[in-house]
Amino acid sequence: MSQSDTFFDYKHIWHPYASMINPIPCYTVISAKGVYLKLKNGKNIIDGMSSWWSAIHGYNHPILNKALKKQMRKMSHVMFGGITHPSAIALCRRLIALTPEKLDCVFLSDSGSVAIEVAIKMLIQYWQSLGQKRKLFLTIRNGYHGDTFAAMSVSDPDNSLHKIYNDLLPKNLFADAPVSSFYKDWNNSDVISFKKIIEKNSLKIAGVILEPIVQGVGGMNFYHPTYLQKIKILCDHYSIPVIFDEIATGFGRTGKIFAFEHANVVPDILCLGKSITGGTITLAATLSSRHIADTISKSKAGCFMHGPTYMGNPLACAVANANIKLLKTNQWKIQVSNIEKQLFKNLLPLRNHPYVIDVRILGAIGVVECLYSVNMCLIQKFFVENGVWIRPFKKLIYIVPPYTISYNALKKLINVIKKALNKTELFNFNATHV
Ligand SMILES: Cc1ncc(COP(=O)(O)O)c(C=O)c1O
Repeated sequence: MSQSDTFFDYKHIWHPYASMINPIPCYTVISAKGVYLKLKNGKNIIDGMSSWWSAIHGYNHPILNKALKKQMRKMSHVMFGGITHPSAIALCRRLIALTPEKLDCVFLSDSGSVAIEVAIKMLIQYWQSLGQKRKLFLTIRNGYHGDTFAAMSVSDPDNSLHKIYNDLLPKNLFADAPVSSFYKDWNNSDVISFKKIIEKNSLKIAGVILEPIVQGVGGMNFYHPTYLQKIKILCDHYSIPVIFDEIATGFGRTGKIFAFEHANVVPDILCLGKSITGGTITLAATLSSRHIADTISKSKAGCFMHGPTYMGNPLACAVANANIKLLKTNQWKIQVSNIEKQLFKNLLPLRNHPYVIDVRILGAIGVVECLYSVNMCLIQKFFVENGVWIRPFKKLIYIVPPYTISYNALKKLINVIKKALNKTELFNFNATHV
């Protein structure tokens, strides 16, 4: 007897962070257009997640689709070892033009986590080339940089998805996360923990890695730009290179093309991913300074030791080019600013709700931190029944909608969050800490 597709999926397919014995139900999406996801039952729901921060121009975008088709007619893939192609060259030119002058060399890879692995490996090789065995990375608590091993080793060791692997991970250094928030006054004591660690270990640290301004999965906190400035001064003082992970925040999400622009500081290595292709195909990039690239290349190895099979995939590069061309029209600035204004007007008042601890807004990111953790299964069902796609975690209900969302569609997302807050059965009352 053949299984229904839903049952087959339930029985045989892993989903992210899901159990194979008792998975939370999945909703079948059969197509997507603009800000709508169309479910198997024909219902259109408004997407508040941009498929985890990636579909910034909405789905099925004609310009992105056209770029894909045009590239497909030429070739979908070709190896990048010993071969190059026009779409990769055009993309790397664009990435270099879009980022600060210091970032001059581009390594293309498959996903955000891999871009982080690449950045970390680059710095290990960089120090080897300089005749030093440095392998420690310094970061801050509540960070998240991906699910592969090096990425896990710089993500929060306690409050994280990865705690169970701690014994296997390289031991890195974790400073306290800053508490001065983006919109409040700067408190100089925020930097004390980081300063102490860097002073003590400066000759052992290979690099510092941070999500600039927005700590995503680690709590959706927006920290003060002065923190980044202070960190960069300390790192420069000890000649320690800095990696900024803009995988979630890059390409306009916070109201600037890159979140580090809020602080006016430039990293030595920059990791990009997610919305680089406008949410169409997986692609990531690690950009480094010429100095780092040259130092690695002068090493005994003579090259950087990494080379994924699908590196520089032409389809992904072509659509990333179209995505950046779309961003260059600067529509995103108006769109993100309008979203931010509306979030301040309609989402911020939820702060006064008795089950809400805080509401945080930056650019096209709106976060409601609740007093209780959500019941994932029930709240997901509630959202879908009410015509929206929002995927909260722990105590955080957050939205990162496509920049193209209309006023009314965003209003609906916010109204449904409001409605959810009044349904006590959607929250776990006896588990305030998760
Ligand atoms: C800041 C940050 N870095 C890295 C990653 C990992 O990216 P990917 O899921 O593409 O491997 C994520 C994913 O959510 C992220 O938010």
